[in-house]
Amino acid sequence: MILIYPGSFDPVTTGHVDIAKRGATIAHRLIVAVLDNPSKKTMFSVDERVAFLQNAFVNEAKIEVDYFSGLLAEYAVRRGANAILRGLRNPGDFENETRYASYNNQLSGGIETIFLSANPALSFVSSSIVRELTAYATGRGIGSDINSEINSAKIDTKSLIYSMVPPVVQVAFAKKLDIE
Ligand code: PNS
Repeated sequence: MILIYPGSFDPVTTGHVDIAKRGATIAHRLIVAVLDNPSKKTMFSVDERVAFLQNAFVNEAKIEVDYFSGLLAEYAVRRGANAILRGLRNPGDFENETRYASYNNQLSGGIETIFLSANPALSFVSSSIVRELTAYATGRGIGSDINSEINSAKIDTKSLIYSMVPPVVQVAFAKKLDIE
């Protein structure tokens, strides 16, 4: 069975890594597919996101990293996928993802979506929270003046950000964003 695990992965998180590795245990091959959508502003370029994923899965023989643009359903058909894999963390994810699963099933002519429930210890992890915290930590986000209060209150944003991303992304943050 070929599974496609699509996402923005901006950036890949420990939650994504967990879902992909668990998905790979039930597939012959798992393709982690990064959405390349030039009209959407991302923190990391598609090349960076792909490179992070390649690093995160370097020891996973069953996992391939690729990128796609356009419709997921079209890409899934083109890659000969048997199913799409998505992780569910909460009822909000369930509501959105079951809707997308129906669209993708119709568009692809029958490709199913398989859901794995997130590891409870990682259910709070999300790329958008990582981006938001990073913006505060680097003083570039909305409300960055609040950042000085956060820092003076000794809230450890760096540890929280780092707990949510694999080592390769930690290194990128340390280099690119100069998190103190
Ligand atoms: O990590 P994300 O941002 O939750 O991933 C969302 C993703 C990439 C899976 C979704 O946006 C997607 O599949 N986009 C591709 C475009 C597409 O097929 N849209 C129609 C869906 S019915």
